[in-house]
Amino acid sequence: MSTAKTSPSQKLGSGVPAYSYGASLRPPRGNYSIAQADYTCEQVWEAYSHAEHDRYRRLYKDRIAKLPGLACEAFISSLAALDASEQIPNLKQVSGNLRNATAWELVGVPGLIPETAFFKLLSERRFPITTWLREEAEFNYIVEPDIFHDFFGHVPLLFNPVFADYMQAYGRGGLKADRLQALEYLARLYWYTVEFGLINTPQGLRIYGAGILSSGSEPYYSLFDPKPKRIGFDLKRVMSTRYRIDDFQNTYFVIDSFDQLFEATAPDFTHLYTQLAQLPTFSAGEITKTDKIFHNNVEGPSKKG
Ligand code: PHE
Ligand code: FE
Repeated sequence: MSTAKTSPSQKLGSGVPAYSYGASLRPPRGNYSIAQADYTCEQVWEAYSHAEHDRYRRLYKDRIAKLPGLACEAFISSLAALDASEQIPNLKQVSGNLRNATAWELVGVPGLIPETAFFKLLSERRFPITTWLREEAEFNYIVEPDIFHDFFGHVPLLFNPVFADYMQAYGRGGLKADRLQALEYLARLYWYTVEFGLINTPQGLRIYGAGILSSGSEPYYSLFDPKPKRIGFDLKRVMSTRYRIDDFQNTYFVIDSFDQLFEATAPDFTHLYTQLAQLPTFSAGEITKTDKIFHNNVEGPSKKG
């Protein structure tokens, strides 16, 4: 699963971690001593072992098999064009293509990084990718983002021009929210869009959130399990909704398009943050009268094979 980056020891004013991935008590893994001041580090591609390339290949194969008819078209087509199924991708190589497409580039990082460093990179259209790969025992579940989650989950949509602009706007908004002590609200927005977002299409609901896409079992659950609520995207509602970091989500928010997401988040949030601080929060799974509920949990699309 997972998300944006932070060191778990970094706390918000309110005392909760802004991006708590897995809320692990141990410090993030990764070698931070080799990182630059902006937290980026070299990806030493030659250093990956045969076993790591092989594990990456099996992860890719396992996840992609679960996504036809479930992942959004933008994800599927970009991922196919990336041709990244056989070995751990070389970030420099992929950056060349990405720069041509949307002027983004990929940079290596040792793992979770502090919020402000994360936002700064996004605001510069540089997407941080953890350079290490998970262990074999973490094949189905990992609490911190590794290169498989970061690459497979996040990179395909960076080729979409509107989503690419959203990510940069998010980075800029993050730097501002940090000054306004409003990171908690922005963290929820990230969680319910970039990591766990669903999108409505003429063919039905589809997944665009990286945390779902890189998971071995959440894709089917997110779209078809009767338990979680699927609620139409509403900015204030999203920013007031707490989330679970230790299990499948109880609530997913559904956008109509990346344009909708971009436009809804374009206005200055300064006043909104003041308002939100006065409003109650919702727990994950809670619904209200004004929520637009999607019922898309009957059966999967015609299953391949
Ligand atoms: N519009 C937000 C602000 O003024 C910035 C933002 C854009 C935040 C997109 C998140 C996503 O703070
Ligand atoms: Fe992520």
